[in-house]
Amino acid sequence: AGWGAAIALGADAIASPAKPADTTGSGPAEPTQDTAGLRGSAVVPFYGAHQAGVSVSPQAHSTYLALDLHEGVDAEALGRLMRLLTSDAERLTQGRGALADMEPELAQNPSRLTITFGFGPGLLERAGAASPAWLAPLPAFGIDALRAEWSDGDLLIEVASDDPVTIAHATRSLLKSARSFATQRWQQHGFRHAYGSRPQGSTMRNLFGQVDGTVNLVPGTEDFADLVWIADGPLAGGTSLVIRRIAMDMETWDDLAREGREESVGRTLETGAPLTGVAEHDEPDFEAVGPLGFPVIAAEAHIRRARSADTSQRFYRRGYNYDETPGPGETSRSGLIFTTYQADPVAQFVPVQQRLDELDLLNQWTTPIGSAVFAIPPGCREGGYIGETLF
Ligand code: HEM
Repeated sequence: AGWGAAIALGADAIASPAKPADTTGSGPAEPTQDTAGLRGSAVVPFYGAHQAGVSVSPQAHSTYLALDLHEGVDAEALGRLMRLLTSDAERLTQGRGALADMEPELAQNPSRLTITFGFGPGLLERAGAASPAWLAPLPAFGIDALRAEWSDGDLLIEVASDDPVTIAHATRSLLKSARSFATQRWQQHGFRHAYGSRPQGSTMRNLFGQVDGTVNLVPGTEDFADLVWIADGPLAGGTSLVIRRIAMDMETWDDLAREGREESVGRTLETGAPLTGVAEHDEPDFEAVGPLGFPVIAAEAHIRRARSADTSQRFYRRGYNYDETPGPGETSRSGLIFTTYQADPVAQFVPVQQRLDELDLLNQWTTPIGSAVFAIPPGCREGGYIGETLF
């Protein structure tokens, strides 16, 4: 089976084989190994109406970087910065080294690499560009224990791929290009199941062991288009990103028996089926009651609290697990890099987060420790750059 099986599993996600390395830039004239047919050569097209990293089926790894602009970086400098970063992103995602790349071989296995840019309120202010009303920190929530080291930022770069070596190289290349304009504020590393470890399209598990992502908007559907992409104005074709770093307390979660764990969400651990159903995608029956007259899906269960009667209050969740080195005396330092995409975070995300803030069984074991909101500008055509519709 070997590679053949791996490729058959992932066929839906492969756009086209990587182009051979070009001869005009710093990349090697020819690939140094035969990459034909290997997963590493899978590329996601860079140019398009939307930035590709939003709707591509989630890669195994994702690194999120937030940068703060240096003093004095103005609209003109921002244009230069984004032209440079767009060029890097286009080259790297297509399997070529960035300009003046010192390790161009590390760019040869893009493995569905996508590089996505987002703008914080500070960046749009510097650019003198009109900023959407929703582009601001979220309102404070009672459950929050936010730390500056995981919050806010002027420029967001998400670097996602099925190969973490590719991500390390791309991340450093981008930071090098940006360093005379901006300094890194934070960096977060997230992961899902390794590519090929489970059937393509299956829902990921988070580190509580839960099937996470069952009820979600689906890229390519009308619902997704209506609720995720911004329809008009300079951000048309773009979206917004809410990124929340949520610590998951594995120690106290250990105290909870399987039944309690399932009750907290309202779904089984084995398959992710609702407690009123048998298969993962069965529709939960929120009216069902047990023999004693109590609802089968508890009033405080996460899925009941997270679901709005108002269907406009939905968003696309695309989170990743994180797992850092535990401190002395700890056995874990884990959680979710919880990310959502929506046309308007204040209208779509905030009401849901407010309801969960008021009541959600999961709050006992989860604590938001970082938070940021970014405008994700639309994609661009060849010759253009990300952000060109704004400055
Ligand atoms: C559903 C876990 C935080 C919104 C779920 C499900 C799990 C889960 C296991 C059920 C499967 C699914 O449909 O995906 C978690 C964990 C969290 C967390 C472990 C924190 C560490 C949040 C936050 C929000 C949110 C902060 C939004 C503010 C939702 C929504 C659903 C959901 C909208 C689908 C509800 C429905 O069935 O309609 N989550 N979640 N979750 N979660 Fe979370």
